Amino acid sequence: EANQADGKTKGGKKSVTPWLIMAAGTAVIGSLQFGYNTGVINAPQNVKRSRFFCFSQSLLRFSEPISQGTLTALWSLSVAIFSVGGMFGSFSVGIFVNRFGRRNSMLMANVLAFIAALLMGFSKMAASYEMLIIGRFIVGLYSGLSTGFVPMYVEEISPTSLRGALGTLHQLGVVIGILVAQVFGIESILGNATLWPLLLGFTLLPSVLQCVLLPLCPESPRYLLINCNEESKARTILMKLRGTEDVSEDMQEMREESLQMKKEKAVTIPELFRSSVYRQPIFVAIMLHLSQQLSGINAVFYYSTGIFERAGVSQPVYATIGAGVVNTAFTVVSLFVVERMGRRPLHLIGLMGMAVSAVFLTLRWMSYVSIAAIFSFVAFFEIGPGPIPWFIVAELFSQGPRPAAIAVAGFCNWSANFLVGMCFQYVEQLCGPFVFIIFTILLLGFFVFTYFKVPETKGRTFDEISAGFRQSAGRGSDKYSVKPLKVFEPCEFPTMG
Ligand code: GLC
Repeated sequence: EANQADGKTKGGKKSVTPWLIMAAGTAVIGSLQFGYNTGVINAPQNVKRSRFFCFSQSLLRFSEPISQGTLTALWSLSVAIFSVGGMFGSFSVGIFVNRFGRRNSMLMANVLAFIAALLMGFSKMAASYEMLIIGRFIVGLYSGLSTGFVPMYVEEISPTSLRGALGTLHQLGVVIGILVAQVFGIESILGNATLWPLLLGFTLLPSVLQCVLLPLCPESPRYLLINCNEESKARTILMKLRGTEDVSEDMQEMREESLQMKKEKAVTIPELFRSSVYRQPIFVAIMLHLSQQLSGINAVFYYSTGIFERAGVSQPVYATIGAGVVNTAFTVVSLFVVERMGRRPLHLIGLMGMAVSAVFLTLRWMSYVSIAAIFSFVAFFEIGPGPIPWFIVAELFSQGPRPAAIAVAGFCNWSANFLVGMCFQYVEQLCGPFVFIIFTILLLGFFVFTYFKVPETKGRTFDEISAGFRQSAGRGSDKYSVKPLKVFEPCEFPTMG
């Protein structure tokens, strides 16, 4: 309601209609799947135990006892291959969304979730670790696609004034998925030697639900109008989504974007980097995604139980679930404040708060300090660096370059995720708790970058945002040799509204 009161925001009606909620809610089942599969096998409290129950007992068909080394290698592979799947998936987003549409792409991707769930769920019965590993790769592919499809669809159906709040729903889906996986992974629930195939195969259920609901959801009106030229269909859907007959403002804005797109056509990934108009926003998008992953968040999500254990916390598993709860709670906070405070301030506050918390994470001999430090690290993450990068890329680009930009940014995100997941343990062995000082330094760097280069997108239409970049690129090109940095200054953006 706060947004309705805010007369300055523009772009269509501000109301949250049942159709809008239904469409966004159905889409974020894909985000939930990503979170669940991030949490389920990495579920920190299970790492040692699940390595044991997944591999050393059930999938064993070796005649000789399996060595500790092989066990660790197979385990690490099945953890890491998820992010490799994510890298391929996110990079392929563009192939689908313009050909099949946003909604149908999401629908089709469920085939992957089905196959993965069956492979993982039956791997024990078949005594095949290969099935588990391939299943993890395929569910990674699905998750990579989802991290592109979902924010794109949700942003395209949202009114301008609610884009940030609804965009945050993607991250809310992710964190709820992680939390559910953490809880299901408790030994007395599904995290034990008998029931683990159910824990991994559970991913089938959200997919069934999404397949039932998606056909009832509308295609993105922006896709229908701008990509397919289906003006009347787009208008009918918009009227449903906005809950009003008067959608002229939205239609007008999309037509303007459409005109702009006639000039630029669909943009390929190499073109994103070649064109001076896109170079600046793609740079911002990539840096925001790197700031999310190189903040060290997944060092915490993958390894927090070990961190708590070494800090002498007596019930590390519950401290980890506590972190999952804090994670979810602060995503909700961000959802409610993002349209009031804007993206830039929240991202900045989040990065600085994380940088300070990371310093306290080095004080591991005090168990309560380390619990508090991890909780505040996670809380600040969800204020900005968690949700914002996922949805802001869709805002930084207009219809033509959007799919390619989302693919590039998502690919960078998943690659950095993979890197942190693979390297953290080794670097921690080298530097002990001071490993978090590396994250502090990175976080401060990203803070400075955000301060100088990231423009505010709140309350601006897609067209206005890209016009801002076009103008600053134009301004920059003639002066480029003199003051190259000026191109990126946020204040160079025309002030609107
Ligand atoms: C973001 C990140 C993901 C992380 C999660 C934690 O969605 O992309 O890697 O695990 O937040 O909440």
